[in-house]
Amino acid sequence: MTQLSRSDYFPTPIWHAELDGHRQFNENLLTVIHTLREEDPVGTAISNKQGWQSAKNVHNAPVFIPICQKMTDAMYSVCRFLKLQDEVRPIITQCWINVNPQGGFNVAHCHPNSFLSGVYYVSVPERSGNIIFYDPRVQLDAMRPPVKEVSAYTAPEVIYKPKPGLLLLFPSWLLHRVEPNNTDSERVTIAFNTWMN
Ligand SMILES: [Fe+2]
Repeated sequence: MTQLSRSDYFPTPIWHAELDGHRQFNENLLTVIHTLREEDPVGTAISNKQGWQSAKNVHNAPVFIPICQKMTDAMYSVCRFLKLQDEVRPIITQCWINVNPQGGFNVAHCHPNSFLSGVYYVSVPERSGNIIFYDPRVQLDAMRPPVKEVSAYTAPEVIYKPKPGLLLLFPSWLLHRVEPNNTDSERVTIAFNTWMN
């Protein structure tokens, strides 16, 4: 039988990390986020349904600088992995809070006008909603033969079950959504967009 070799081109990476010490600083973040919400109970509505989103500038508030620094550090690791030029510097251009109460969810969306995006999980009770990323090669939906085992080559979507302290980074163009929160506890996350200096 002919021996086949393979080269993988155009992969779609999703980076993930559990941040050290998250139990301590998540408690503080929750307190700050509750205060923000009391000050701006209407918030904004972007991808969020039946929930609350803050303005997109919380990275400018001093209290969020430590968590934004952790996000930026992770982004630097991505830049090294991608072998970007050394003078290319990732900066957070937008950062906002998502609070999904019972029934709250986020419709399918991408993050326009950004390079890399991410989300950090502050509070995610069981069954409060997985995040689902979709295969960007939409043409494949024209022919998806049945598989014996789902793999990165054939999966139409990938589902992340988030935990507090999880940081996800992904290409901003990658379509994703968040399932409804099926608990009576709030799901709290911090999302962000970046650009390169
Ligand atoms: Fe998003």
